[in-house]
Amino acid sequence: MCRTTVHTRCRSPCIRRPLAPCVIPRSPLRRNGSRTSTAWRARLRVPRPAGAGPEVGRQRHHTRRRIARPCAQLPEISPLVETSVPVRAGQPCDTCEPQRLLRTLQLARSSVNTSIDECCWMAVASLGMTIESTMSTGEFAAETRRALTLRHIEHVRAGTTDAHPDGVRVIPASEYLDPELAAAERALMHTVPLVAATSGELAGPRSYRTEMLFDVPVLLVRQDDGSVKAFLNSCSHRGARLLEGAGEVGKRISCSYHAWTYAPNGELKSVTQPGKFGKVELCDNGLVELPCAERYGLIFVMLDAQGEMDIDAFLGDFAPQLALCNLDTFKVADERTLPHEVNWKLALCGYLESYHVKVVHAKTLAAAFIGNVSTHDAFGPDGRHFRTTWSMNEVVQMAEAEDVDAVLDGLQYAPYNTVLYLYPNTVITAPDFIGIRFINRLFPGHQPHDQITHYRTMVPAFMTDDERAMVEPFQQVTRTAVEEEDYGQVPGINKAIRSGLRDSLLVGENEPTVTEMHRVMARALGRPNPDQPVTPSA
Ligand code: FES
Ligand SMILES: [Fe+2]
Repeated sequence: MCRTTVHTRCRSPCIRRPLAPCVIPRSPLRRNGSRTSTAWRARLRVPRPAGAGPEVGRQRHHTRRRIARPCAQLPEISPLVETSVPVRAGQPCDTCEPQRLLRTLQLARSSVNTSIDECCWMAVASLGMTIESTMSTGEFAAETRRALTLRHIEHVRAGTTDAHPDGVRVIPASEYLDPELAAAERALMHTVPLVAATSGELAGPRSYRTEMLFDVPVLLVRQDDGSVKAFLNSCSHRGARLLEGAGEVGKRISCSYHAWTYAPNGELKSVTQPGKFGKVELCDNGLVELPCAERYGLIFVMLDAQGEMDIDAFLGDFAPQLALCNLDTFKVADERTLPHEVNWKLALCGYLESYHVKVVHAKTLAAAFIGNVSTHDAFGPDGRHFRTTWSMNEVVQMAEAEDVDAVLDGLQYAPYNTVLYLYPNTVITAPDFIGIRFINRLFPGHQPHDQITHYRTMVPAFMTDDERAMVEPFQQVTRTAVEEEDYGQVPGINKAIRSGLRDSLLVGENEPTVTEMHRVMARALGRPNPDQPVTPSA
């Protein structure tokens, strides 16, 4: 029986909803075609293996608390919450699950509009909101999911996480304060492929989108043959900005200053009053074209008109990892910028480790994750791109199973969150358990302590109303987690690092992606590894 209470933090004090939703988490395992089969639940009761660490013990208790309170009655619901599902009390969980799922999500959605509450988030996170149309299928996806899940299971059983072989490292504060280094990193980013947009933002022929990459105004135009071209968003006459925002270019792009016109492929087509202007060759005065390529739902641009971009060589064996994100099945739901004062690498660190999840995100994301259990792998030329995956609570249940092969054979979705670091400044978060993606780009500012983070939230291009009801609460909770919790740490870090009283920061061996990111950036500039071992005091 669900307990209910008056939640005074909700929009109206008369709203009644579960104190803690009696959630039966949908298993990531498919067993005999049923996600809530008796066999699956029986497996949850297998004793915890010997040697499991204290972290596991805590999570096991947490998970079982929810499982041990099966839903015998649908939660009460406020008449203020719109729903088309009738209340059907007293039914077994397996029967009422679909109705309860929808109702719980509606409750969660109504509450996150005003406040984030852990029990709501637990309800959203633990119900397995996979949208199958966005999931990767095929042998490679299955093998990857299986191999990574096994690594997570082994870590949970052993109480470990992927560790950097060099152990704890010391990073000098100068990595975040040196103006020459900051300028060199900015300059470097003008010579490598950068993520400029997503494919879905240029939906059809002659659609366009403008972007600012650092201080460079970029115009992206999809061509009639389906390819994408990138230009400096600047007229060849006096350099005026040609287009703003996004839309359709039609047959011609017309400059708003003196009305010169360009074809969608960048050719100069007409000069206003050419007899008075004087002779100019149209064929020599088209738009400045930038190297551009489209792969795996992303549009890459290089800010060097004379540069050559071999995007396939740049990605190397990281390409299949990007492909698994299925970004071309998503659309952008939200775009935001976070212009916080902090060195861009310090902001980036927060995306690359799961050590912080149980602490900083205690009120939001923590309920879904084990925390501090991660994998790390490097891909691409010089190992410059990374994949780190973070264990979700489901792995605790899997680690308790006697027959791990059966667990892996029955995987329906990955019980971990995937984070891809796409060198040099992009992070893609791709949780398999819900149809949502986040694309974060961090742009170093003009000063070492300046950066702008631009992030897109992507949702499935096509969603049913039920799927939308699943995705929107997650989207709102994650926005809070990033903007208020992750970036809420930034002012304190920035002040401390600029105080002159710190000469270094520490990176744990449990944060291998953080150490490696610093090394990759240093190698790209021909510098030695910036990190040092911890020196024991005499
Ligand atoms: S600046 Fe574009 S036509 Fe003059
Ligand atoms: Fe975070």
